[in-house]
Amino acid sequence: DWTPDSFVDSTVAELKEKLGNDKVVLGLSGGVDSTVAAVLLHKAIGKNLHCIFVNNGLLRKNEFSAVLDQYEGMGLNVKGVDASARFLDALAGESDPEGKRKIIGKIFIEVFDDEAHQIENAKWLGQGTIYPDVIESISVNGPSATIKSHHNVGGLPDFMKLEVVEPLRMLFKDEVRRVGASMGIDPELLGRHPFPGPGLAIRILGDITPEKVAVLQEVDAIFINGLKEDGLYDKVWQAGAILLPVQSVGVMGDERTYENCVALRAVESTDGMTADWVNLPYEFLQKTSNAIINRVKGVNRVVYDISSKPPATIEWE
Ligand code: XMP
Repeated sequence: DWTPDSFVDSTVAELKEKLGNDKVVLGLSGGVDSTVAAVLLHKAIGKNLHCIFVNNGLLRKNEFSAVLDQYEGMGLNVKGVDASARFLDALAGESDPEGKRKIIGKIFIEVFDDEAHQIENAKWLGQGTIYPDVIESISVNGPSATIKSHHNVGGLPDFMKLEVVEPLRMLFKDEVRRVGASMGIDPELLGRHPFPGPGLAIRILGDITPEKVAVLQEVDAIFINGLKEDGLYDKVWQAGAILLPVQSVGVMGDERTYENCVALRAVESTDGMTADWVNLPYEFLQKTSNAIINRVKGVNRVVYDISSKPPATIEWE
C-alpha cells in the first residue's frame, strides 16, 4: 500500500543507492515541488545536495528572505543568489508577454549555470518534476525535453549536461503535499498557492520598472495577507494582483488624482487548466480595496476580475 511514510523510506533508500557520494545541484523556487524534492534528497545525501535559490526581483514582497530563512531553518545546504538587478535590467523596455518570459528564462539559466559551476564535481541535477509535468512534456516535447528544447542550438549550459534525478516523477500534487507533511515540512509552505516562474513580470502589463514591481508587491501583500487573516486563503486555488497600464481619475481630499488601476484575481481550480473566479465576500473586497487605495501610493482604483477560464486565462499575460 502506498503511504507517504513508505514512499519516503523507499525513495530515500533508492536515492542513497543511486547517488552514493555524488553531488547534486537543485534549483529551489519556493514552491511545493522543488522543496519536497530537496528535502527528500537532503535526507538521502545531506550536504552533498547543493540548493540554489535565485531572487529574480519578481517575487512577492519579502518572499526571498523569508523563504531563504525557512530553507536554512530546515537544514538545507542552500545558497541564496540575489540577481534582481540583472533580471530587471534585462527586462527594461520589454512589454511583450512572451518576450518577458524569454528574457527571464535566459537570465535564469545564466545565473543558475554560473552558480552550478562553482559547485565542483557536481554529477546530478535534482528537479521537482511531478507526474503531470512528465505527461505534459511527453505530449509537447517528447520525454524530458522540457528544458533542453530551448537550447538545442550550440553548447548547452553546463548544468544541463548533468544527469537528472527527479524523486517526485511518479507523484501527483496531493501526494507531494502528503509526502512533504510526513517529512515535517511547514504546512504553510505546503499549502502555498501556485506562483508563475516569471513572477510579477506577467502581472505588470506592459513594461516593467522597479517602481512598478514595488507598487504591485504592496498591493499583492495586502490582498494575500487579507485572504490569510480572513481564513480565505486555503479556499482559493490561486490569487494575485495585476497592475494595469491604465490610469484613471480620482479624488483624494481636495485634489484630483490620475493614477493606476489594479485588478485582483482569485480562482478555484484543480489543475489550472480550467478555473472559476471565486465569489469572495463583498465585505472582504471592500476592506481590501480601501486598504490598497489608502496605503499604496500611486493606486486610486481597484477592480475584481470576474472572468473564468476558458476563455480568460488565469494570468493576464
Ligand atoms: P494561465 O494564465 O495559462 O495559467 O491560465 C495557468 C497556470 O499556469 C501559471 N502560469 C505560468 N507558470 N510560467 C510558469 O511557471 C509561466 O510562464 C506561466 N504562465 C502561467 C499560472 O500562474 C497558473 O497557475
